[in-house]
Amino acid sequence: MKLYLDTANVEEIRDLAWLIDGVTTNPTLVAREGRPFMEALTEICQIVSGPVSAEVVALDTQGMVREARELAQVAKNVVIKIPLTEPGLQAVQKLQSQGIPTNVTLVFSANQALLAAKCGASYVSPFVGRIDDAGGDGMAVVQEILTVYENYGFQTEVIVASVRHPRHVVEAALLGAPIATVPYDVLKKLFAHPLTEAGIARFLKDWEKVPSKSKPGQG
Ligand code: E4P
Repeated sequence: MKLYLDTANVEEIRDLAWLIDGVTTNPTLVAREGRPFMEALTEICQIVSGPVSAEVVALDTQGMVREARELAQVAKNVVIKIPLTEPGLQAVQKLQSQGIPTNVTLVFSANQALLAAKCGASYVSPFVGRIDDAGGDGMAVVQEILTVYENYGFQTEVIVASVRHPRHVVEAALLGAPIATVPYDVLKKLFAHPLTEAGIARFLKDWEKVPSKSKPGQG
């Protein structure tokens, strides 16, 4: 399973660059950083060799394709994030025919994901947290998408997005989702377990009873 970091913060990306397989950004995450978008994107692409999603904001196909071409010039690993609308999927078709990879975003149903795959999306991002927030079952939607893609052999990869807590990551992994994009604080929580902390403290305490001459690094 691949783990992407869902952030536009370069310090967070640097900290976890050794672990992550890619990065996703969106206009909200970029705005939070308060710095020029192209400058931030260039820096992120220098840190991470895996896919880095950058989102277009135009609402018409032509405008999206124009923005996408500009973003794609920043680095080879840029993936163009496009919202799931009719003009958006037309842009995905055009970009696919030009060899520019796309991540179709703001996906909330298996039917939307089916259309994105038919249009040649490289990735599709169902927003599980926002579906849960609206009273739905985000992971059930992911399961449906995975089944539909399996049924027809679509190559589009599912990125489980809008991840809110560690349990979302486990559930995505249990479903066999190929990718989850995870906020920094949630990813940090994946390392932690209170019994690991307690176990280390206990081992260190007991280690004090071992004669120091017999310990590694003591001479
Ligand atoms: C995905 O690509 C989006 O950037 C992100 O996961 C949205 O998450 P949110 O619903 O927590 O804003």
